[in-house]
Amino acid sequence: MVIAVCVGSSCHLKNSYEIIERFKQAIETHSLENTVELKASFCLNNCMNAVSFKIDEGPCKQITLETFDSVFNDLVLRKLDDYGTDKNPRQ
Ligand code: FES
Repeated sequence: MVIAVCVGSSCHLKNSYEIIERFKQAIETHSLENTVELKASFCLNNCMNAVSFKIDEGPCKQITLETFDSVFNDLVLRKLDDYGTDKNPRQ
């Protein structure tokens, strides 16, 4: 799984670097270092909904410091569950 967090100017103003730090902490907490690649991205053309991020080639989503935990649980951990070899042998 690749998570790309926008660091364009609108997202930067809304703490995208702090969001990246939260992702780093969450990835470490859940021991996902070998499963999740975290990277910064140029503008994802979703500036009205900063901070923007994408998972793999999925749609652009919004995340804030306030919504971080629920978004991480719903969009990252749940998707990784779907990747599980028992549930989806193609992954
Ligand atoms: S600056 Fe982040 S979507 Fe445009």
